Amino acid sequence: MTLNQAAAERRFNPEAGVGPSGRFAPIARPDLSFTAEVREATAPVYEKVKHFIPEIEWAVLAPMIHAINKLKKERNAVILAHNYMTPDIYHGVADIVGDSLQLAIEATRTDADVIVQCGVHFMAETSKILSPEKTVLIPDMKAGCSLAESITGADVRALRERNPGIPIITYVNTSADVKAECDICCTSSNALQVVESFGVDKVFLIPDKYLAANVGNKTDVEVLVWDGACEVHERFTAQELRDYRQIEPDVKIIAHPECPPEVVAEADFAGSTAHMIDWVKTKRPAKVMMITECSMADNVASETPGVSYIRPCNLCPHMKRITLSKILDTLLEMKEEVIVDPAIAEKARTAVERMINLNS
Ligand code: 13P
Ligand code: SF4
Repeated sequence: MTLNQAAAERRFNPEAGVGPSGRFAPIARPDLSFTAEVREATAPVYEKVKHFIPEIEWAVLAPMIHAINKLKKERNAVILAHNYMTPDIYHGVADIVGDSLQLAIEATRTDADVIVQCGVHFMAETSKILSPEKTVLIPDMKAGCSLAESITGADVRALRERNPGIPIITYVNTSADVKAECDICCTSSNALQVVESFGVDKVFLIPDKYLAANVGNKTDVEVLVWDGACEVHERFTAQELRDYRQIEPDVKIIAHPECPPEVVAEADFAGSTAHMIDWVKTKRPAKVMMITECSMADNVASETPGVSYIRPCNLCPHMKRITLSKILDTLLEMKEEVIVDPAIAEKARTAVERMINLNS
């Protein structure tokens, strides 16, 4: 029996019981002892994270990693994890890691029955929009985003009414309702390309006013903004970066484009989380400062020996809601399922697929 057949049987066999998602039987909690088998199976992961996770903590995390990796097979599930996940998730249980664009593309490619989205809610919604037939789970339904919360579908309708004929591009960090009202989606990886794809002289790029301003600085297209911001990146200041350079004159500073433009102007490079990682892997600076969420440097450090990371960073409280123990519960109990109204999903899919098609 293939994994897919086994999963289908579990889902539709009434004898198997019905889990909270309505289709899956819950699985009993496994023994979480740090046995010799667990130690051996997780040793390659520990090699990557040992600089951040003390052995005493590993004894608690390793059994969860081992159990999650077994459960993924039983559930025919794939874990899509954003680059801001902690190293135990990023190196221990993720099948695919990446920025928002990469995760959206991978959601269309996987043949797993179940996607466990380790990231924030809009990312899980994007996966559901692209794969309506799949079960999409998020380990914590409260993992939100200040950008997604800054705008509603009704706001976009009003914006369009006041500005007829101007294309509205939505950053992927928005709800399905908002995506459904917009012409196309973008991520920080492709925002400039999307803005220029219309061939017009004026577009809206909502809701991140800083991303919009940073893109506007690179193009002749007038980029109109919405007054939203990322609560993590807006806290960095240009003065802070200048101060760091005084202390560490040879440091390379790379920033996420959700930072204010004056911060981006002080940086040596700005790009999406994936582009930031690629930049460090390619350029191999002796010292680097990643002006973004804290887990980025931890995750990339084990893959870039010889690079030393200077770590001013800000934690995203929403991303940090996702933990190994919640991922374990997610796969055991098949909760919490992300549902998108099919009519909204269909409209939102058009916006997301237009973006993906631009990249292919
Ligand atoms: P990326 O698409 O660059 O990964 O950004 C997502 C995000 O939420 C950054 O704050
Ligand atoms: Fe949203 Fe900012 Fe957190 Fe990214 S880092 S999920 S933009 S609040």
